[in-house]
Amino acid sequence: MVQVTAALGLGPDQVEGVLAAASLAPSVHNTQPWRFLVRRDRIELHADPRRRLAATDPEDRELRLSCGAALFNLRLALEAEGVRPLVSVLPGHDAPGALAVVRRGGAMRITAENRALLDAVPHRRTNRRPFLEAPVDPQQRHALVRAAELERSWLHVITTPRDRAQIKRLVRRAHEIQLADAGVQAELAAFTGPRPGASDGVPPASAGVRPAMQDEWAFRDFRGPERRPGKDYESDPLVVVLCSFYDGPLGELQAGQAMQRVLLTAGTRGLSASFLSQPVEVRQVREELRRSLGGMLVPQTVLRLGFSTPVPATPRRPVAELLTGSDEHAAC
Ligand SMILES: Cc1cc2nc3c(=O)[nH]c(=O)nc-3n(C[C@H](O)[C@H](O)[C@H](O)COP(=O)(O)O)c2cc1C
Repeated sequence: MVQVTAALGLGPDQVEGVLAAASLAPSVHNTQPWRFLVRRDRIELHADPRRRLAATDPEDRELRLSCGAALFNLRLALEAEGVRPLVSVLPGHDAPGALAVVRRGGAMRITAENRALLDAVPHRRTNRRPFLEAPVDPQQRHALVRAAELERSWLHVITTPRDRAQIKRLVRRAHEIQLADAGVQAELAAFTGPRPGASDGVPPASAGVRPAMQDEWAFRDFRGPERRPGKDYESDPLVVVLCSFYDGPLGELQAGQAMQRVLLTAGTRGLSASFLSQPVEVRQVREELRRSLGGMLVPQTVLRLGFSTPVPATPRRPVAELLTGSDEHAAC
């Protein structure tokens, strides 16, 4: 097994700490599709092709969003160690196959804002429970929009009843297409339900309540406990579409970092979040969603935000399992 070594002026324990922070990022079905190559002068982020979801995510778009989120955590954790992260996304021949390479760009002191985001990393969770019937106020919305902008992405906030009805319809249509797709359902089943000792996937305690036909929004069934009477979903969550300005891997890696900044910003403001990814995962529905946003922005993920009660953490693989040696990884 590959050992954690010193890098970027940090000792092995500090490197292990920053990689552990990176691994707390959200990932589709908690696949944790990332690997790290550690060298004295750099940390490379690679996709782990063995953790692809070929049916749900055939173009690896969500894999790259997930890796972008891990990269954002890594940046924060390095800043807290006093290292200014010099990030090169899709570095090409500089680091073959890597999604990103991070070098030491000098010393720095982390800002209070980024320190608060880093402190939120271990507490951030996807919360699939019903939210309270309490509105998210404009100041909080503004903070989320700004978080996406800081990472060169765009957060489209659904505000009008017409847009809300439209996106609800797209979520349901994509959900039904996926229900009829045996490959998508097999991947969901592989990563949900009781899996004792698993260090990936979504355990029943994190699955939220079981969705029902009468729910306004079509939530994916993560095989959580049966719903008790009165445990209905809120009528009016804040729904946002996180968009990139470009199609393709660069836009996806930027959007992944933005997604994580948005989620952590939400966390620092007491907001919970969950995903409604179906309309972005199903290609023909994604095109319709894109047109409904004016055709220029590229929708990458849909989030539902509101206030809820805390949920347990999902498991993570140990850092030692995330390390890769020199050439054993493949590009994604
Ligand atoms: C790109 C992406 C898409 C996701 N899509 C969904 C989704 O459609 N529904 C859902 O309930 N969770 C979704 N998730 C959340 C993951 O299942 C979750 O991040 C993972 O299980 C780890 O749990 P945690 O976020 O609580 O750490 C998505 C996460 C990512 C990064």
